[in-house]
Amino acid sequence: MKIDPWSSATYQDYARLRDEFGIQEFTEDLWKDLPHPHRLLRRGVVFGHRGFQTIHDAIMHHEPWAILTGLMPSGRMHLGHKMVIDEVMYYQSLGADIFIAVADIEAFATRGFTLEETRELAVNEYILNYIALGLKPDRCRIYFQSKHQDVKDLAFLLGKKVNWSQMVATYGFEGSTNMAHIFSPLVQTGDILHVQLEKFGGVRPTLVPVGVDQDPHIRLSRDIAQAHRLYNVTVTKDKKIGVFVKVDENVEKLLDHAEDVLRRLRFTDLKRITDYKAIYLTSATEADISGIDTALAHTEPRFCGYGFLQPSSTYHRFITGLTGEKMSSSKPESAIFLTDSPSEAKKKIMNSKTGGAVTLAEQKKSGGKPDECMIYELFLYHLVEDDNDLKTIYESCKKGKLMCGSCKAQAAEQMSKFLVDLQGKRTQAMEKMKEYLK
Ligand code: TRP
Ligand code: SF4
Repeated sequence: MKIDPWSSATYQDYARLRDEFGIQEFTEDLWKDLPHPHRLLRRGVVFGHRGFQTIHDAIMHHEPWAILTGLMPSGRMHLGHKMVIDEVMYYQSLGADIFIAVADIEAFATRGFTLEETRELAVNEYILNYIALGLKPDRCRIYFQSKHQDVKDLAFLLGKKVNWSQMVATYGFEGSTNMAHIFSPLVQTGDILHVQLEKFGGVRPTLVPVGVDQDPHIRLSRDIAQAHRLYNVTVTKDKKIGVFVKVDENVEKLLDHAEDVLRRLRFTDLKRITDYKAIYLTSATEADISGIDTALAHTEPRFCGYGFLQPSSTYHRFITGLTGEKMSSSKPESAIFLTDSPSEAKKKIMNSKTGGAVTLAEQKKSGGKPDECMIYELFLYHLVEDDNDLKTIYESCKKGKLMCGSCKAQAAEQMSKFLVDLQGKRTQAMEKMKEYLK
């Protein structure tokens, strides 16, 4: 199996996907003690992660951290797209610096849009809705890939440590793939890592919340971040902890500096072997590695390194379309767009696939199947905030007490309220646009 970030697959079997690609399970201990955990975390919609512990710890210790995510401006914004921004706003409320990339280069390279078309879609569909939904302007920056010189510079420079075979293995590129497309994962790596440049807040943990289709880009960014480090901290063959200098310039200076850092962290018993470009620590254990690594990373910019910490990621499930297939902008009946009128949304909801039985009598007898119901998904992902209310719907459905007709009507009613409210907020959002596009 291969994850293709440019296909339109739905990925039903998330657990298998997770195991196959070495994505970690998003377990309760990662979110339980966060302040007022978001419903998408509580309900298992976010099902996997890489390196989220770092983010968890930064939140708990009130240390600086950043979010970087991106939007593909290639169609209208629907409920599936709303999930990422819901997550982003939650993390913004916990103090994260927010960066949002408009992937106009990627849309140009892979979907055949002009940059002008993507600008129009990004502004009127996405950014306007983000603001209306409640994204705050402070410590938040939305930018276009094609206009961000630092991102593009990084894309070029970071490409030094990736080769063609790796790109083919990851993305299945062929001789006929256009070069802008081939380059777009590096632009995305530029997006993800630029937030750790001095100018944008410096070296710090970064979270990239995405759908699982984006995992190849995450792996690439994590590999590249690691590859550009000046130091490597690891367990040696004889089970000691070693700090290694990875480059050939300034080796003495880098070893001196690492010794200082290690002493400051109160490690004694340092054994330096300059020929191996190494310092061995006899008193350290595996549990110390991440602390040492982070301390060294922060100092790398002084030696013309980047010191990038590996970006962390979370993966959410995709909401199913109302028709039972993928929710997609290209199939309007499958999606509820944030700019749908209440009556359009109502019509789609009324025609939606549910987990109801064939006849009313049958459903009263054996109940419905909320786990296979698109209406229930609307409640779970978007419409019902209170977990107990959601549980009541689930159980009433299973017991055959709730019928699909009234259930759909309830969903339509709530959706309509949401859309009307958003519509109102959107009209004021245009004036605020400038505060976000810094
Ligand atoms: N490739 C993403 C998509 O198809 C968009 C994107 C661009 C992105 N840069 C990003 C996502 C950085 C996360 C992080 O939707
Ligand atoms: Fe879905 Fe509601 Fe019907 Fe149950 S009663 S199957 S939750 S629409």
